[in-house]
Amino acid sequence: MSETANGSTSAGSAEAERTTSGATIQLEDLTKHYPGNPNPAVDSVSMDIKAGETVIFVGPSGCGKSTTLKMINRLIEPSSGRIRINDEDVTDIDPVKLRRKIGYAIQSSGLFPHMTVAENIALVPKMVGWSKSKVKDRVEEMLDLVGLDPREFHGRYPRALSGGQQQRVGVARALAADPPVLLMDEPFGAVDPITRDHLQDELIRLQHELHKTIVFVTHDFDEAIKLGDRIAVLRERSHIAQFDTPEAILTNPTDDFVSGFVGAGAALKRLNLTRVRDVEMAAFPTVTVDDPLQSIFNKLRSGPHNELLMLDRRNRPYKWLRRGDLMRARGSLARAGQLVHDTVTRDATLHDALEAVLTDSGGRVAVTGRRGEFIGVVDMQTLMNSVHELLEADRLAAIEHQHDLEELRSHQTEAELEGGAGA
Ligand SMILES: Nc1ncnc2c1ncn2[C@@H]1O[C@H](COP(=O)(O)OP(=O)(O)OP(=O)(O)O)[C@@H](O)[C@H]1O
Ligand SMILES: [Mg+2]
Repeated sequence: MSETANGSTSAGSAEAERTTSGATIQLEDLTKHYPGNPNPAVDSVSMDIKAGETVIFVGPSGCGKSTTLKMINRLIEPSSGRIRINDEDVTDIDPVKLRRKIGYAIQSSGLFPHMTVAENIALVPKMVGWSKSKVKDRVEEMLDLVGLDPREFHGRYPRALSGGQQQRVGVARALAADPPVLLMDEPFGAVDPITRDHLQDELIRLQHELHKTIVFVTHDFDEAIKLGDRIAVLRERSHIAQFDTPEAILTNPTDDFVSGFVGAGAALKRLNLTRVRDVEMAAFPTVTVDDPLQSIFNKLRSGPHNELLMLDRRNRPYKWLRRGDLMRARGSLARAGQLVHDTVTRDATLHDALEAVLTDSGGRVAVTGRRGEFIGVVDMQTLMNSVHELLEADRLAAIEHQHDLEELRSHQTEAELEGGAGA
């Protein structure tokens, strides 16, 4: 009997230590008047955000995105209105307590310059009273999670990090105490486009695992499409112009303000809505560096492909090999083939994949998993097929919509006729 009791106690407490999923957020008539300005910066915003959802605020500069975001963790006190997190009214609770439940990451990364990377990440876990050893483990775990080697980065100071690395540490710090809610204000605004792309992919991967509720501010609509489950397009004073899924906003913008924000090329932007994980990858022949030359040769000669992919000992894409390369190899593959220099992950968008395929001389790109292991190959044909399917689905949806409208109209006409006959 005592055994069972012990077993269940330890399992129970381990469970209680972690909140892995997000919380609901409700904003109710949230308003902010800054002193000295007769107009409110944010005027009566109401919004329901679901648990585990990523919501993006986009809108012109000065429309109140940051003000609205900072009212959620009360870095800015609302002038009026309510904030509820998981149905609990947090508008009047101690803001310091509130902020422990809410991770916060900003553009400049906001790291404390006089603290090491580890000290920065440990900040909130320490504040909420975690034991020393638990904090230490957590710091390592977080660094690992955001793709920084703990041994290398642990003791560094923020000034010795690149912009992208600082952002990663900023995200690690925001996540350290495992808060159900994460607020991010243009967190990737200050890094170059390629690093930004990687950080976005990273965030998508993290969110796949963690299911936090994320509110994310950006003025980059492509970023919004890529990251958001729903996007709130805001006009001046944070009035909501449209709050919907990226698909709905792209295919059905409510008005000119929203279509202006979506910008030109809505069809191409559809490519940002589909991920590599959602397309069907054709089989592609692979060999490993340890395979004997003869068997590689046989594989190339017998199969339908005139190219294959050589993987390294850790199953990562290493070299593309064509028939001609083997002819010229003369017994050693050391110099044969073309090294793989670009790969995409399954979380990359078709837009990213297209970019990679277009810039690759062979017109294909290898897809890899989290540890760089080979998963498949995407080529122009795969992408064309997917785009055709996307466009066809859009076309069918439009026809269906039209059909519904016509049906509605004919019912109306019938009703009018009946009404007319009766009179
Ligand atoms: N501390 C403050 N005191 C007075 N006015 C402020 C203060 N902070 C912001 N404002 C004003 O409130 C409005 C909204 O600002 P906010 O920073 O929320 O906009 P934003 O949408 O985040 O803009 P951006 O995209 O440029 O970051 C702006 O007109 C701004 O000038
Ligand atoms: Mg702002």
